[in-house]
This record gives sequence, C-alpha cells and structure tokens, in this order.
Amino acid sequence: MVSPVPKVEIDHVSMKYLTLEGETEALQDICLSIAEGEFVSIVGPSGCGKSTLLSLISGLLKPTRGRILIDGVPLQGITHKLGYMLQQDYLFEWRTIYNNVILGLEIQGKDKRSIRRQVDDLLQRYGLWDFRHHYPHQLSGGMRQRVALIRTLAINPDILLLDEPFAALDYQTRLYLEDEVATILKGEGKTVILVTHDISEAVAMSDRVIVLSRRPGRVKADIKIMFAAGRLMPFATRKAPEFRHYFNRIWEELDIHVEGTPASKTKQLPGQGCPNPGTCPVPEENPPA
Ligand SMILES: Nc1ncnc2c1ncn2[C@@H]1O[C@H](COP(=O)(O)OP(=O)(O)O)[C@@H](O)[C@H]1O
Ligand SMILES: [Mg+2]
Repeated sequence: MVSPVPKVEIDHVSMKYLTLEGETEALQDICLSIAEGEFVSIVGPSGCGKSTLLSLISGLLKPTRGRILIDGVPLQGITHKLGYMLQQDYLFEWRTIYNNVILGLEIQGKDKRSIRRQVDDLLQRYGLWDFRHHYPHQLSGGMRQRVALIRTLAINPDILLLDEPFAALDYQTRLYLEDEVATILKGEGKTVILVTHDISEAVAMSDRVIVLSRRPGRVKADIKIMFAAGRLMPFATRKAPEFRHYFNRIWEELDIHVEGTPASKTKQLPGQGCPNPGTCPVPEENPPA
C-alpha cells in the first residue's frame, strides 16, 4: 500500500547562489509532492535550476528558503535513503567493475560478506556478472552507465535522483537503456526523480512530468502521463497514440524559441529548434523509433 505521507515533499523551496560576481536566483518557491514509487521527470530550459533542485533534494545543498521532507521528516544533510546518479558515470578506471559497484558499501563500512551477497545478486540480475573482473575502459558507454546505476542501487536507496543520466549516450543506446533502467527501477519499487532535457525521454519514462520555467525556475506545469493501454515500457510508450499529445503539450510549456519564432510555430519540425534533435515529434505515419 502506498503511504499517505509523500516520499519527497518540497515545501516552498527557493535557492540563491551567492558568488563574488553577485547573486543568482536559481529556484523560486518550488512546491512539489512526490509519492512513494512514483517516477517523476523534471524538464526545463538550460540553466533553470534542474540540477540545483536535485542537489537540494540530495541534501548536498541547503535551500535559501523553504524545506525538503523525506518520509515526512525534514532533510538534514545527506541521507542513505537517497542515491544520486549523474550524466558522467564517475567510475574509477583503476578499479574493476565489481570494485566500482561496492564503492558506496565500502564507504558505509558494510561487512564484506553481506556486501558480496548483495552485489553478486545485482550483477547477476542486471547482466554484468560476466564483466565483474573487467575494467571500465573495456565496457561500452551504455554498460558503464548500467554499472553506475547498479553502484547506486547497491546502497539500497529508496529514492533515486538521476541527473541527465543518458545525455552522453548515442540515441540507440539511450532508447535501450531507458527500457532497462525503467524495468530495473520499477521492479525494485523505487521512487525516481529524473532530470532530462529530452521531452521524449520524460514522456516515455515517467508517471508525471514537471516543467520548470526559465530561471529562476518555478513550477510551470505538472502533467500526469497516462496511457489507455496502461503503463508501458518506454520504447512502447513512444508508439502509443497519446505520446504525441504529451510531447506537444510539454513543448508548448517550455520557453524554447528559435531566432524569435514562437515555440508553437516550430513544434512540428523534426530536429529544428528541438532541444534534442532526433527526438522531436515526427508525422503520425512515421512514428518515432
Ligand atoms: N555552484 C554554483 N554557484 C553559482 N551559481 C550556480 C552554481 N550552480 C549553478 N549555478 C547557477 O544557477 C543556475 C541554475 O543552474 P543549474 O541548476 O545547473 O541549471 P540546469 O541544471 O537547469 O541547467 C544557473 O544560472 C547556474 O549558472
Ligand atoms: Mg543540469
């Protein structure tokens, strides 16, 4: 049963960075409530504060105003309930895949035997067992990102924060990993907050998409993603009839313009003015992928 207390609550959060050059208001009065097991994506123009929001939820940064609650308890610094995964995989090249995956558990001072059982299980379940003695440079970009995800899962967080985890990958690998990651995270019952600049990815993967305004980021739209056929895997979602509707709705909410042309005028042109060429809507008779 889903708990009535939100898993993550962002309560009137604002964030200003103070530097020698001056003040940057990154986020303004953000209020969001995320339920246990929900998969939420955050999209918004570059520099609108998406990464800042994840860093605040992770406890690495403290908001200038407002508070963040995890399971109803105000966040005080870093908590093991949260796992954070970034665009770069940050694997250590001199450690084997196995030794990279156990890193977080080592830092937590977990006993070696219990580490072994847990990590062996993850490596076997997610197709990395045969590569456990390899080094990161021997793996493809997609596999490296999968190792980074398993390293994050190894510490068994309830909540995963993913900051553009697929952005550095080629389009095909990205599509493949989206399905894999969705299967893994839904199977594990995790609450997920994904930052992406890719509208298609947000619609394909999420239960809900939050659109932030230009900086200072404010919640501009909060869109529930629902398909008549029920919850599908990301790849299948891209072919569902509703996909286009959600894509266009989010595109219109985003303040993205091409040389003074309103977003609404450019939205049907694949690859043009799209924040991520290759993932723009294409004519109905030629569905994505
Ligand atoms: N550590 C920092 N110090 C000062 N300004 C920062 C810092 N981190 C981010 N910013 C500024 O805050 C704004 C939001 O940044 P960020 O959260 O990285 O945006 P996004 O992830 O949406 O691209 C930007 O204007 C950025 O330059
Ligand atoms: Mg960012």
